[in-house]
Amino acid sequence: MQIRLQIQRSDPASGETRLQLYELEARREATLLDCLEQIKDELDGTLAFRRSCREGICGSCAVRIDGRTALACRTPAAELVAGGRIPIIAPIGNLPVVRDLVVEMEPMWQKMRAVEPFLRPTSEAPGDGRETVVSPARLEAVRKEALCINCGACVSECDAMTVSPEFLGPHALAKAWRLVGDPREQENAPRLKRLSGEHGIWECTRCYLCNERCPKGVDPRDAIAKLGAEAFAAGVTRDRGARHARWFVTSARTTGWLRESELVVKTLGIAVSVTKIPLALRLYRRGKAPLPLPRHKASELQPARELRRIVAGQDRRGALGIVQSERILERIELVRAPEPEEEL
Ligand code: FES
Repeated sequence: MQIRLQIQRSDPASGETRLQLYELEARREATLLDCLEQIKDELDGTLAFRRSCREGICGSCAVRIDGRTALACRTPAAELVAGGRIPIIAPIGNLPVVRDLVVEMEPMWQKMRAVEPFLRPTSEAPGDGRETVVSPARLEAVRKEALCINCGACVSECDAMTVSPEFLGPHALAKAWRLVGDPREQENAPRLKRLSGEHGIWECTRCYLCNERCPKGVDPRDAIAKLGAEAFAAGVTRDRGARHARWFVTSARTTGWLRESELVVKTLGIAVSVTKIPLALRLYRRGKAPLPLPRHKASELQPARELRRIVAGQDRRGALGIVQSERILERIELVRAPEPEEEL
């Protein structure tokens, strides 16, 4: 099979970046990683990239393929070059490039360390050499997050991190939920308070690209949503993001719409909102923002209220209330009621 790839090369000395075209004859079942190794073995020994397991386990081979982040070892080369396409292979985003396809992972580890990725169980062990038992059903709440292989695909795709490099980001926050959602963890309130602060959970812009691109189905955005819900349940609601979320629900319940002009005041407070008036007027003149009065209200309010009544009736507080995706209405009826508290 004829393969042509454009690979982003970078010279660490000069800082210069360019695309280099490689042409090779590969096996039909070859993956992108196989092609990179073939290039290094047969065409250009200077090409730098990472890999270890070749099986989608170690997370070291993530790259961007025409702008989408994926594991090279899980990407069939034949699909990439179908129809004569010449894909561009580049290093993952939001991390400094060391050379070619190799990035510096330390900023990602720093953020992971910042969420203190360890359990603080304070419950006494049962004694007699027995272990503390946690049922599989309760650990199911953190099962997806435990699948993370630290490949950085979610970090690479996170636009919020591009705009705000201090944002903890989907990788670290999914790790954080792995701990907050663990029934053995006893330090949730202070942890949620820290995670709800500046550059924490409320800085996520909910674009869902991390969910879409994670090669292991971790769904980091869902983990961030669960953290937000647990923060609410624990009364940690002072951040602007939390106020924004609260008003979102109030607006939907009372009018069936999101009243954006009031949302600004409820989120930022009156003093800061006043400084936004010139921006609001510019948006209004371009037809991008409505006047705050008269308040718009949906002609059919009943469905929005009925939805809220159904959810409230199930009494699923905190993370148990998180049901996402476009099939949300189906899933609300299907989610099981929470289990009664179990003895640890
Ligand atoms: Fe380990 Fe690809 S080489 S995940």
